[in-house]
Amino acid sequence: MKVIKVKDYEIMSDKVCEMFIDRLQTITNPVFGLATGSTPKGLYKRLVKRYNAGDIKFDRATFFNLDEYIGLDPSNPSSYTYYLTHKLYKHINLSPEQINFPNGNAADLKVECERYEQKIAETGQIDLQILGVGINGHIGFNEPGTSFNSRTGVVQLTESTLRVNSRFFGSIDEIPHRAITMGIGTIMESKEIIMLVSGAHKADTLKRMLHGKVTEDFPASILQKHPRVTVIADEAAFGET
Ligand code: F6R
Repeated sequence: MKVIKVKDYEIMSDKVCEMFIDRLQTITNPVFGLATGSTPKGLYKRLVKRYNAGDIKFDRATFFNLDEYIGLDPSNPSSYTYYLTHKLYKHINLSPEQINFPNGNAADLKVECERYEQKIAETGQIDLQILGVGINGHIGFNEPGTSFNSRTGVVQLTESTLRVNSRFFGSIDEIPHRAITMGIGTIMESKEIIMLVSGAHKADTLKRMLHGKVTEDFPASILQKHPRVTVIADEAAFGET
């Protein structure tokens, strides 16, 4: 793993934005996997800004959302479809064929997961996957104990994740207990991964991800085995502020 230590959240976002734009401009038909949550917001804000400035265009790019809650309408501001649509997609002039979401409202969720996995495979795999990490080490919504070989599927969220993510909902009772997520096996097939980590509350998580035992009890530890991962983390995440 390549590790880049940066001063703070803003510099982390600048750095990942620079790397993202490089891949956007150097890969012929780039395929991006995108995470949601607090950590990548700065990246999406910067991409929109650079698009509006006329510096970049996305007409050859394809996007895949990493995960989605089950049972939320896409118009619900807490859904990940809403998040990426409003923070990025609707601002950068994409056609619907360029955007892929797992449908958490599909009548047959098993068929939906297979469709999503198949769609990723048809693009020839993800060129750059952006990831954040849960304090319990989850990547996507693959919680501790998930098989490293898992494919896109329906997962049950842990108490810890429900508690932490309830900040995006009116109350803890509103958060769905299940989600669709790309599997760990699916994520690991990405040609390149950038993992973003910010904040003192992730210090133990970062240490374990970089130096801990590779174990299914801590999903992010598998990144140690990927041939092309860059971790960009701020000083707070390194426990330095
Ligand atoms: C989001 C996702 C999650 C988050 C993780 C960290 O699509 O899959 O793995 O990346 O929960 O979330 P934040 O960035 O809010 O700390």
